[in-house]
Amino acid sequence: MSGNKTGDCRPIGVFDSGVGGLSVVRWLEQLLPGEDIVYFGDVGRVPYGTRSREVIHRYASEDLRFLADREVKLIVAACGTASSVIGPELIKKLPVPYTGVIQPTAAAAAAATQNGRVGIIGTAATIASGSFVRALGQLSPALQTVGRGCPLLVPLVENGYIDFENQVTRLVLQDYLRDIVDFGADTLILGCTHFPLLAPIIADLLGPGVTLIDSGLATARYAAKLLQTSGSQNPAKTGGRQQYYISEHTETFAATARLFLGHDIQAEFALAETPL
Ligand code: DGL
Repeated sequence: MSGNKTGDCRPIGVFDSGVGGLSVVRWLEQLLPGEDIVYFGDVGRVPYGTRSREVIHRYASEDLRFLADREVKLIVAACGTASSVIGPELIKKLPVPYTGVIQPTAAAAAAATQNGRVGIIGTAATIASGSFVRALGQLSPALQTVGRGCPLLVPLVENGYIDFENQVTRLVLQDYLRDIVDFGADTLILGCTHFPLLAPIIADLLGPGVTLIDSGLATARYAAKLLQTSGSQNPAKTGGRQQYYISEHTETFAATARLFLGHDIQAEFALAETPL
């Protein structure tokens, strides 16, 4: 039901602590190929997930401000860790609609599970925050959950340890996934947006009985729905442009981005230093 026939050409703003938010961008590119995207990856301060709630809150506030200052029409916190600490006190300061990854991903998991047992992997901060457990409980109080913080996975992804045969990553994942297997979960939330880059290995280790919920896909679908229901989609159907900013130039960002998005990107240096 779009009442606005002219649409809205402003870009969608997306941020993450690093490369993980590209798991949202990848799906936005497919679902909304006409939309422009401004991406901020806080590569200079990654990882967020091993830091205190106060520090993550400050970083998230600065990231939100960075995007709000770039005239975007929607802000997506494409980071499970930042999404877990962004509350109404920050959201109400934003001049445009906002979504994080928690609600859309929890909703996709609640819809997918058959046996009511949902596993969650995320950063240490995301799991400690209880954000996914709360969101799942609100959707369906009967759901049973098990969560596992996986602090080694973000550095592995940021350093490009994502190839299917990587034995280091496989060993680490085997250890992290043991609780999920023992619990008998039929659905696993990849609660950190870095983790979809490891989805082929995780799927291989867990086998076909466990459905993986890609936080990137769930969040991109939700963002598309938000734009559609508010009539603020870009009228162009193709040709969306992307602008990338990163807070530190690293070799691995461009390489991992290419591997993941399937095309090269150019990233400019920028810092997010001012809170909302
Ligand atoms: N992609 C971020 C998330 O979804 C990674 C957080 C981190 O930097 O540790 O949680």
